[in-house]
Amino acid sequence: MTHRHIVTPLATEGIPLARPVLGEREEQRVLEVLRSGRLSLGPLLAEFETEFARRVGAGYASAVSSGTAGLHLALRAVDVSDGDEVITTPFSFVASANVALFERARPVFADIDPVTLNLDPDAAAAAVTERTTALLPVHVFGYPADLAAFERIGLPIVEDACEALGAVDADGVPVGGRGHPAVFGFYANKQLTTGEGGMVTLGDADLKERIDSERNQGRAPNMDWLDHDRLGFNYRLSDLACALGLAQLERLDELLAGRARVAALYREALSDLEGVELPCPESGRIRRGWFVYVVQLPHDSDRDSVVRALHELGIPSKPYFPAVHLMSFYRELFGHREGEFPVCEDVAARSIALPFFPDMNEGQVERVAESLRKVLGHVGGA
Ligand SMILES: Cc1ncc(COP(=O)(O)O)c(C=O)c1O
Repeated sequence: MTHRHIVTPLATEGIPLARPVLGEREEQRVLEVLRSGRLSLGPLLAEFETEFARRVGAGYASAVSSGTAGLHLALRAVDVSDGDEVITTPFSFVASANVALFERARPVFADIDPVTLNLDPDAAAAAVTERTTALLPVHVFGYPADLAAFERIGLPIVEDACEALGAVDADGVPVGGRGHPAVFGFYANKQLTTGEGGMVTLGDADLKERIDSERNQGRAPNMDWLDHDRLGFNYRLSDLACALGLAQLERLDELLAGRARVAALYREALSDLEGVELPCPESGRIRRGWFVYVVQLPHDSDRDSVVRALHELGIPSKPYFPAVHLMSFYRELFGHREGEFPVCEDVAARSIALPFFPDMNEGQVERVAESLRKVLGHVGGA
């Protein structure tokens, strides 16, 4: 398989934070679509969906224009609507909470597990009210959430798997294969990219039909052009994007193995940094679908100074994630304050994402590790 990069952003200027691996196969498949003239709603949509569903062991899959679009349609598919409550984690990308607001429902946060950094099932159970209509656990940083525990709560589940392609849960089930709507994201930093894009996997044919219709302006598959029987959106994924996705899917094992290799290099290189917490190791049958490499800095270090100092050494990094409930929009809308979710707030205040991509080499990992060591020595911490 060719590893040539079609585009190598920042490749010669330093270490990028993230970078897709794109090669001749991607180029070839996209060119085929260009030459065919069927740029959207063509044959590659179904092909991509079928191959993706097969890969994660799902009954069905629906390709959509982004992870956010997929989460929105998945919440609609489990009938979340006005005034409902959706329980989710405040330690996530903002989209996983925003999608409840799209349907005039309320995202209700519960605290996270300090080890896995995923929504704590006991905290989620304690947040259930008579208005709760769905649970939205996120497989944060590709580490599978405890789905068996969420299933015991007995409410509909939508899984935010945007960061978790390739992950396997504690029961040995690939994330996306449990039958609940599970939503993957294909933005350029993800395990598999289509530039922008997403996929909803699910086990129910009727829900797939609803999602397929709503992503396409509310059109049923057998209806005449421009006849619409329900509200819908334009959340379609083009055939150009599907071509890219199919080529990436062909080499997914290699992409995932590359990320796992880089994660192992980081673990080795950072293991002696006292006070720095590394991503939790896999246990039992759990496999992480490596997405980012996020470390928590020592309690006595100033995260923003560390990010700035790393930048001065040519190492990009970013605070990841900031707590959603403390974002200005969420504070203003719901009156959230510091102290509500102490585990999340502690983790969010200390977390930074380091450069991470499948073909990162040992020298680059060493350079990042050395820089972090130097910076923490200078600004307090280890
Ligand atoms: C946890 C999580 N949820 C949702 C999304 C949204 O995906 P997209 O950017 O494809 O809309 C992302 C993407 O970064 C994510 O990381």
